[in-house]
Amino acid sequence: MKIAFIGDVHGCALHALGAVVLLQARRGIRLDAVIQVGDLGAYPSPERFDESSRRFWREHPAQDDFFRLLDPPPPVTEGVRLALGQVPPVLFVSGNHEDHDWLASLHDAASAAVVPVDPLGAYHHVACGNVVEAAGQRVAFLGLIEVPGKMDLDGSAYARLLAADPGTVDILITHDGPYGMSQDRRGNVQGSAKLLDLIEHLQPRLHVSGHYHHPNGPRRYGRTTSYALAQLVQPKATRWDPEPINPEQRVAAGSIALLDTATGDFEYVRDGWLAEVGGDSLDLAGLATA
Ligand SMILES: [Fe+2]
Repeated sequence: MKIAFIGDVHGCALHALGAVVLLQARRGIRLDAVIQVGDLGAYPSPERFDESSRRFWREHPAQDDFFRLLDPPPPVTEGVRLALGQVPPVLFVSGNHEDHDWLASLHDAASAAVVPVDPLGAYHHVACGNVVEAAGQRVAFLGLIEVPGKMDLDGSAYARLLAADPGTVDILITHDGPYGMSQDRRGNVQGSAKLLDLIEHLQPRLHVSGHYHHPNGPRRYGRTTSYALAQLVQPKATRWDPEPINPEQRVAAGSIALLDTATGDFEYVRDGWLAEVGGDSLDLAGLATA
């Protein structure tokens, strides 16, 4: 079976669906599950954005596509319905840029570990600390990041997974990555020591994360191979780059990956057609019928 993984989406929820629709069509494959590694940008309204999400949204109109999913105008409804006729709904874990109170309220109301967050059922949130079967794999989900404050890892969810027996999880999905995976521009070591301990304890065959917005891996920890994904749609420009880096708002190489569960082969998708999924206002229906 085949699983697609999607890096940080930051509100570009239609780009993510378009990318997996094209992945399936251009590769001539059938996806059995789609998993997103957090920072979907799951806020119920722009008023609930955190400050950095609001700042990026001003220059990146597609970062409010998640709101179009919540109250879809007819073209979005058509596009999402066409997409969901072809690919499975997306399972996602919490990043540090979501409305965590809103997501918790959806779980409370449904008394369920996995809940759809939009009326068309395109995205399903998995609460931290749960193991869900997807494409025949036991997939554990642990969102957020290791940092003091409200974005910190959920202590009880972390403890629950740390108490699970080694070998009981096939794939671990986290938002933060393992400590030591990379360095930032100032040379600070990136990643979470707690997640490194969890990987070394659980020893899943595969670990996939996001948060740092660049591809990283393969990294090996015992029998685990770990990868991090790029941000799905990079900013138009950054303060570090003199030239615009993504004015067309195209999906980035390395932000999507594909796993064949039979062989264990994991591949970053870098195909040229990824650039066809772009723009400030994505025509998902057009992509899904092309
Ligand atoms: Fe992010």
